[in-house]
Amino acid sequence: MAKNVEGFFAAGFARGEDRGELPLNLLIVADDVDPLLYDYYRPERFPPIDLILSCGDLKQWYLSYLMSTFNAPLYYVRGNHDTSYVDNPPDGGENIHGKIVNYRGIRIMGFEGSQVYTREAVQYTEREMYWTYQFMRFQIWRHRGVDIVLTHSPPEGIHDMDNVTHKGFRVFNHIIKKHRPKYHIHGHTHLNYGRNQERVTRVEDTYVINAYGFYILNFEKGPEGSGRYQTPR
Ligand SMILES: [Fe+2]
Repeated sequence: MAKNVEGFFAAGFARGEDRGELPLNLLIVADDVDPLLYDYYRPERFPPIDLILSCGDLKQWYLSYLMSTFNAPLYYVRGNHDTSYVDNPPDGGENIHGKIVNYRGIRIMGFEGSQVYTREAVQYTEREMYWTYQFMRFQIWRHRGVDIVLTHSPPEGIHDMDNVTHKGFRVFNHIIKKHRPKYHIHGHTHLNYGRNQERVTRVEDTYVINAYGFYILNFEKGPEGSGRYQTPR
């Protein structure tokens, strides 16, 4: 493990390199605790982090740990397994399901949950998710658009899977087409589920990013300029 980790991080960019006036390194996380962020965490391996975004299915203690370790605020949406957030939300983080927040000029919109498969957890039908979006359209207009769409599930046909639990939402494809966010960041479809799964896919003007484990995104430079700070595969 240690040898792989050293080789992996050697390919990344230098700590604090060329961060410009709007230095925004986003630590995005989803689905699994990554040993590189916890058991094997070493601060010198990582750039400064400005904001943490969670796409869900992570324990509250882990999100609190990340906030204190990187000294950064957290926005999150709940995954289908995050039912305990109702009574015990992540301490200090902000749930952005169904709303838009503005962080230093970056407009971030959130949608929680997965498709319905048991009705026992954080699950939505396509129609329910469509209406969640419709109720947000005034906010989108008021913010004059959106830069990041943060969801648990992927869009339909992009990083999703051919089963009811991991099927994507069609309304997210509509949001990409109509509002052209710079990023659509999601979790839910683990990158270790099978072969040929893409971490980043360009769709129209939008980078769709699977946040499984962790991925560090330089907001300005995009995936091409963000080095290889991500869960090794
Ligand atoms: Fe999930």
